[in-house]
Amino acid sequence: MAVRRASSTASHCSQSLLLLFFLYLLVCAHGVPNYSDALVKSILFFQGQRSGKLPRDQRITWRSSSALSDGAAAHVDLTGGYYDAGDNVKFNFPMAFTTTMLSWSAIEYGKRMGAQLENVRVAIRWATDYLLKCANATPGKLYVGVGDPNTDHKCWERPEDMDTVRSVYSVSAANPGSDVAGETAAALAAASIVFLRVDPMYSKLLLRTARKVMQFAVQYRGAYSDSLNSAVCPFYCSYSGYKDELLWGASWLLRATNDVTYFNLLKSLGANDSPDIFSWDNKYAGAHVLLSRRALLNKDKSFEQFNQQAEDFMCKIIPGSPSSTTQYTPGGLMYKLGQSNLQYVTSITFLLTTYAKYMQASRYTFRCGNTMVTPNTLKITAKRQVDYILGQNPMKMSYMVGYGPDFPRRIHHRGSSLPSKTSHPQEIGCDGGFQPFFYSSNPNPNILVGAIVGGPNQNDFFSDDRTDYSHSEPATYINAAIVGPLAYFSTTR
Ligand SMILES: *[C@@H]1O[C@H](CO)[C@@H](O)[C@H](O)[C@H]1NC(C)=O
Repeated sequence: MAVRRASSTASHCSQSLLLLFFLYLLVCAHGVPNYSDALVKSILFFQGQRSGKLPRDQRITWRSSSALSDGAAAHVDLTGGYYDAGDNVKFNFPMAFTTTMLSWSAIEYGKRMGAQLENVRVAIRWATDYLLKCANATPGKLYVGVGDPNTDHKCWERPEDMDTVRSVYSVSAANPGSDVAGETAAALAAASIVFLRVDPMYSKLLLRTARKVMQFAVQYRGAYSDSLNSAVCPFYCSYSGYKDELLWGASWLLRATNDVTYFNLLKSLGANDSPDIFSWDNKYAGAHVLLSRRALLNKDKSFEQFNQQAEDFMCKIIPGSPSSTTQYTPGGLMYKLGQSNLQYVTSITFLLTTYAKYMQASRYTFRCGNTMVTPNTLKITAKRQVDYILGQNPMKMSYMVGYGPDFPRRIHHRGSSLPSKTSHPQEIGCDGGFQPFFYSSNPNPNILVGAIVGGPNQNDFFSDDRTDYSHSEPATYINAAIVGPLAYFSTTR
């Protein structure tokens, strides 16, 4: 905001000229972001994270098939799915959240995606094929991950060379996991909506499995970290507890089925937290926005409580709102937490554009204290975040790999930082990757197109340092949440 002070007309004029000049620099020198281009790349990224047998039409060609015996430790087939980030572990908790967000993107923004909608469906299916195996392979069990993270993290090797122990983790009635089960149910239910028309049989299977997994989450309540300990913590501990996943799972099942059972379930959970964050861990805000759709679009009074909570969330986020609890960097980036901050930016941006859409469709506005909030208020806040990620920032670099002229070159990602099997067929063992590659200051040999990294620090600075995983590591859930907003801005002015 400009600082107002008494001044002569002449200096006013030069100030305006200066302001115009900076606007020119921002808009013309760096150009309007090409949201369509960013959208294509944000989806392509998922191919680089694929585990299992890769298909012929694989377009990220420096990757090849990997982890083809996953599940063998439990005598089941658990091949497929995604590596969560720069390592070679399949963590179902964030993978399911990724799937839910990709599905929500397709449901809410699919009409704006053109040919990209099919690519999003393929990306979703890569995860749901795996999640279905996890839910249906062994009666009474839900598999929740493959690969010992503590062993994996000690190595710097390509997924194709992986020789670490591929432990299989599960939850059951005796060792419950309402967090991971609730999220898995949410993912399967959301995906069932995506495939409803294009593949009704698959959609039915997804929904049937979602109901079963949700039933398990509700009936046997508990945190998966209580039994899995160091296999999931501190990596993907459910720090926020499992009530948010029960709410989120019930909300998605309600959306997919309209079954009153799920309405009763979400009501039975009692008072909800109203946090100022949204992530793979904490889903309250996502559930509140999802449920507010009924209050706004269907004018259903029994959902007003959730709409109120969605508004409270927006008031904690919007800059200048009297109840804002959200920090912004000098360059304008939402800043929530030091580790992989952009994950919060993309997830919250998704809620901003989605709630703006609901408001616009129902001609709704609300207030944060005395500040009037219109759909445009949310849209401007969201657009600023997307534009920042795509290069309108003090570093003048895009935080999406392969987008724009300047982007992170040394991302914390095993496959990207090591030579491909084609260029270096010899095996690179557990320790083999550290000296020549991990600690090297050279750019990564393989470009993981579309990957969004953890991002800059709270002073807008980014060091592009491979060893600094808090800032230079990509993750599936950072990308999944930006797919919707990119589709939105590619078709909205
Ligand atoms: C934006 O990117 C798309 C897809 O990469 C490309 O086809 C299009 O020409 C680009 N648009 C502009 C204005 O550069």
